[in-house]
Amino acid sequence: MAIRALYPGSFDPFTYGHLNIIERAVQVFDEVVVAVAFNSRKTTLFTREERMDLLGEVFGGQPKVRVETFEGLLVNYARSKGCKAIVRGLRTISDFEYEFQMAQANKTMAPDVETFFMMTDQRFSYFSSSLIKEIAMLGGDVDKMVPPQVAKRIRQKFPARA
Ligand code: COA
Repeated sequence: MAIRALYPGSFDPFTYGHLNIIERAVQVFDEVVVAVAFNSRKTTLFTREERMDLLGEVFGGQPKVRVETFEGLLVNYARSKGCKAIVRGLRTISDFEYEFQMAQANKTMAPDVETFFMMTDQRFSYFSSSLIKEIAMLGGDVDKMVPPQVAKRIRQKFPARA
């Protein structure tokens, strides 16, 4: 039986840290659904459509990766997509508490869905979407932190600074 995993996140923006997790997840699972979370109460730099387009560009032609979007409870979405696994990346020990709480709550709501953690590669362990947005906003170069498609769109968002 093929095992489909769900890799959810805000991806605002998508970084090399996220890419690293997905590239490793496809070695383990038969299919990875990358799900862009939409939360109407959260202000984002990139709209849901922009984030999906960017992920589509990054993963175009990769048969084991599907890009989708969701709203509402993650476990309901996982079940609706037939995903038995949720993949999350852990960068540092400080991620653990939040991830632990989320995994436990998800397990209580959906005992049939397992959460799998992967250690983010050390090279990306200090990355965060907020940090990258701040650097870009202040005119810094983020080319080593995000895929070229994302870097290009970030430059379009902050043209005067780039
Ligand atoms: N490399 C680099 N950075 C990473 C990373 C990695 N491998 N993994 C996460 N990050 C960073 C992100 O860039 C982001 O940085 P920021 O805080 O500066 O923006 C931060 O870690 C967290 O991002 P992400 O992993 O995308 O999680 P999130 O908090 O944006 O999304 C959801 C979490 C969407 C999975 C969660 O809120 C959810 O499940 N929502 C649905 C509602 C629900 O079911 N709620 C109940 C849950 S119990």
